[in-house]
Amino acid sequence: MTSSSHNDPEDKDTVTITDNRNQRQVDFRILHSELGPDVIDIQTLYRELGYFTYDPGFTSTGSCDSEITFIDGVQGILLHRGYSIEQLTEQSNFLEVAYLLINGELPSDDQWHRFKHEIETHSMVDEQLIRFYSGFRRDAHPMAIMVGVVGALSAFYHDSLDIHDAEQRHLASMRLIAKMPTIAAMAYKYTIGQPFIYPTNKLSYTENFLKMLFSVPANDYEPNPVLSTALEKIFILHADHEQNASTSTVRLAGSSQANPFACIAAGIASLWGPAHGGANEAVLTMLNQIGSKEHIPEFIARAKDRNDPFRLMGFGHRVYKNHDPRANVLKDSAHAVLKELDAMNQPLFELAMELERIALEDEYFIEKKLFPNVDFYSGIILQAMGFPTSMFTVLFALARTAGWVAQWNEMITSPVHKIGRPRQRYTGHGPRDYVAIDRR
Ligand code: SDX
Repeated sequence: MTSSSHNDPEDKDTVTITDNRNQRQVDFRILHSELGPDVIDIQTLYRELGYFTYDPGFTSTGSCDSEITFIDGVQGILLHRGYSIEQLTEQSNFLEVAYLLINGELPSDDQWHRFKHEIETHSMVDEQLIRFYSGFRRDAHPMAIMVGVVGALSAFYHDSLDIHDAEQRHLASMRLIAKMPTIAAMAYKYTIGQPFIYPTNKLSYTENFLKMLFSVPANDYEPNPVLSTALEKIFILHADHEQNASTSTVRLAGSSQANPFACIAAGIASLWGPAHGGANEAVLTMLNQIGSKEHIPEFIARAKDRNDPFRLMGFGHRVYKNHDPRANVLKDSAHAVLKELDAMNQPLFELAMELERIALEDEYFIEKKLFPNVDFYSGIILQAMGFPTSMFTVLFALARTAGWVAQWNEMITSPVHKIGRPRQRYTGHGPRDYVAIDRR
């Protein structure tokens, strides 16, 4: 029983709601969190008091229990299974972080080699799936291709659709992580009219991805270690982030017992939005729109104007209210990549740094706690690395697949796993009778 309608003054681990309208008081249990705010268990609120809670955008709502990622928005802390994002980007690699997110512990040497081999085993896609690409226009946005092709995986891998079978869940999870680079690289190659490049398993996960993107059959290809190191960090920084919009989409789709490929395709669709994962592409579009330092004040003014829908892309965050720890790591990587590519005086980078300086000194941005988030710097690095802006969110989706898969598995195996079905505050018409068209 998570609530009691009597008032037990001794029980300090409850919150009492007093309904003055109906002269009722009900206690609700406070549930302890390992880190971060404790939660009030209001599952019986409607039954006890006849009210729904109301929290558009879920600013104060916990949707689930999770052990995967912890974010402290005030301190700017991001932990994956207890390990800080700073240590993971410095000492780990993306596939090892994927293992950690899914399994809860860092792999032993033997576990690491078995996991890496399993991912390599699934890096290719069914040859029939490759035919999907020829149905798209060459100028299709790569994210449109990703949503379509990833969703179509369920039409090919029938032996990993049964969500009640642990082995099939594992196989689907491995296939998703293994095939995302191949699918993403083919989406890029298709839009530029170049032949698809098959995976090369002797390369690392990230080097293999770079090769499938940037090599051509006519030339030998050697991955650039600076670029593959920077991309490794970018993938780690984007791997998981608690119950963000796209992860919540994956969980909600999964709660209906939809197959894992359909759930990840739903996550890709949600991530595409410029308010979420599409922001990295939107940052570059915005910087190009600003064009030069002289125009920065005009755009800052627009961002502050409540009547103007313009937002400063790459700034602000629902949870982080002081700094996004990922942005700090990326800012350092940006310098390393731009230096390696001799692009430090790249006009776009200089413009971005000036925009950041001005925004961080502006009273509005200070008061609203708006500062650069992960997407502000990732776009600049990816642009310098030669990625087209339309591929930025694809890379985000590739990396976030590790987190989505981990969160999906956690939800499916949760003892309280039930279909997600929020209610609403109804503000429409009351009952009324139908009127024939000749009398309207
Ligand atoms: C990601 O949730 C996650 O964890 C997401 C993510 C992940 O890893 O999964 O971290 C990835 O999505 C990062 C965020 C990328 N999006 C952008 O950079 C787009 C620009 N940012 C905004 O759209 C906004 O900041 C959000 C969507 C990120 C957060 O929005 P909130 O928390 O719902 O805040 P809000 O929209 O209610 O804004 C609060 C106030 C508003 O002013 P008032 O109505 O109070 O007067 O701040 C203002 C907003 O107008 N504001 C901005 C702004 N962001 C918020 N004003 C100008 N420029 C901005 N960028």
